[in-house]
Amino acid sequence: MTQTLTIARPDDWHLHLRDGAMLQAVLPETARHFARAIIMPNLVPPVVKGADATAYRDRILAALPEGMSFEPLMTLYLTENTDPADVEAAAASGLIKALKLYPAGATTNSASGVSNFDNVRPVLEKMAEIGLPLCVHGEVTDSDIDIFDREAVFIDRVLDPIRKATPGLKVVMEHITTKDGVDYVKSNPENLGATITTHHLIINRNHILAGGIKPHYYCLPVAKRETHRIALREAATSGDARFFLGTDSAPHTDANKLLPCGCAGCFTATNTMALLAHVFEEDSALDKLEGFASRNGPAFYGLPVNEARLTLTKSDSAAVFPKQIETGDGPVTVFDPGFPVYWNVTG
Ligand code: DOR
Ligand code: ZN
Repeated sequence: MTQTLTIARPDDWHLHLRDGAMLQAVLPETARHFARAIIMPNLVPPVVKGADATAYRDRILAALPEGMSFEPLMTLYLTENTDPADVEAAAASGLIKALKLYPAGATTNSASGVSNFDNVRPVLEKMAEIGLPLCVHGEVTDSDIDIFDREAVFIDRVLDPIRKATPGLKVVMEHITTKDGVDYVKSNPENLGATITTHHLIINRNHILAGGIKPHYYCLPVAKRETHRIALREAATSGDARFFLGTDSAPHTDANKLLPCGCAGCFTATNTMALLAHVFEEDSALDKLEGFASRNGPAFYGLPVNEARLTLTKSDSAAVFPKQIETGDGPVTVFDPGFPVYWNVTG
């Protein structure tokens, strides 16, 4: 028996598209299902100025196959040298929709991120004034803090003080992985939202480490214990508009994943919507999927909901997703949830 679900076309509020051959290969995987995405600026070198974002947006649009439509929502990478006037101009022209805060050293290409948060105070104040959101990679980088505690410690030591010092600042806690993150959002009604990835709704840390190490499940922030995954599931499927989809789909070639020191990132663009339908159905919340994937994000960012639609169909036979996609840089493995999925995008 088939079952269908038609929702407003979704957006991805946290996406890595990379550049060059990788961009060319991964962009269609997102554009096939998503109307818009917040584009992460952690290229090498990073997208730090308005002019960089213009050039990157042009490269993205040039890589879009004929007949596909997709709107990249650009961001700038916040550094201690970011100029508030450049940010203001880029926001006023409509070019950028957010700034991205990487604590220096927290993740892939974060070396140009922020070490001393006092040095970015003038930019944050300008952002609060003009209503430009700050997307936050919420992990401390201190070597003495256990990697599984870095999100919770970041909330206490960095995020809460920043929000108190700049009360009007709109903040998106990106890819939350803990109950602490969920609770922080819920207990702070003003100007705060959070993205949740598809993979963090599916895997916990056992999936990465038990029965052999699984590099394709390694991402940052790293998946936590099961109680946290359950808290994320509850938040995502609750209908609470402060939680919305940001896949953090982060392609790395298999050669770069399968190393003694492999890269962090799960590539989920290809099957995210099918996996989400599975997850939401499992939690008896299919009626909440549209809010999570298509409505809550635009509401937070002050953008219209897409008029186009997306149809998902559940059939009796398991969907077959490609194991890998080919790129000019080498194959990229598509996230494998480890269970059969009967939903797929059909229109
Ligand atoms: O797993 C991740 N991969 N987390 C990040 O924060 C960055 C991303 C990437 O760029 O590969
Ligand atoms: Zn990311």
